Amino acid sequence: MARMPIIAGNWKMNKSPAESVAFVRQLAPKLAAYGEVERVVAPTFLAMTAVASALQDSPVKVAAQDAHWQAEGAYTSQVSADMLQPYVEYVIIGHSERRAYLAESDESVNRKAKAILAADLQPIIAVGESLAQYEAGETVPFVRSQVIAALDGITTGDLARIVIAYEPIWAIGSGKSASGELADEIIRTALRDTIAELHGDGAAETVRIQYGGSVKPGNMEEFMSQPNIDGALVGGASLDADDFAALVEIAARVKGS
Ligand code: 13P
Repeated sequence: MARMPIIAGNWKMNKSPAESVAFVRQLAPKLAAYGEVERVVAPTFLAMTAVASALQDSPVKVAAQDAHWQAEGAYTSQVSADMLQPYVEYVIIGHSERRAYLAESDESVNRKAKAILAADLQPIIAVGESLAQYEAGETVPFVRSQVIAALDGITTGDLARIVIAYEPIWAIGSGKSASGELADEIIRTALRDTIAELHGDGAAETVRIQYGGSVKPGNMEEFMSQPNIDGALVGGASLDADDFAALVEIAARVKGS
């Protein structure tokens, strides 16, 4: 079974609610034609309800950039998966910026993944190694350990609802992307092979895996041509409607052919 490509724009801490709504009104018509690609935008929490409502009649889906694992309670500043449920379909968790600056751990990513699945939402779990780990040749064992920890206790059935994003930290916002072949090789060995060991070949074939890190219209085709890459998690280029639309168009063309 072919895996449906998924292109998600992670806006990070960008765009006010007004800017977010204006942006999706401009973006949605540009993305309307590409039904063979899942198209997702991830605004800030503050803009979430407004963006969800602006996209109500659009095929473009909304993702949150995080969710707490508890449903409610004394967790100042946090938003639960249950609270997000009416507005989003996906929740990005484990992003390296959260791991680096906000004490996100493998354990919290795992708890969040379970809470998101329980809320009937789909996690996009980000993993990836640092430059030092990459240069020391530790990429595969490290990313593999992140995947094993993130998926601890998750059933094979639920795996079909999970997207994994491989984002080498050294390629994020640096303008320095991994080559398509390198990303594909790491995704195959560190991600699909690990999932095959844990959940069998069928699950490894089914799970969707994105590449992220300086994805731009100019290098998108290289990534989308790889057999193990099912889409992209995009930062900078997702803030520009024409660039994001170009990424979706390229995914539809390359993956559809
Ligand atoms: P850039 O596309 O800006 O490198 O960011 C990638 C990213 O972190 C997406 O989550």
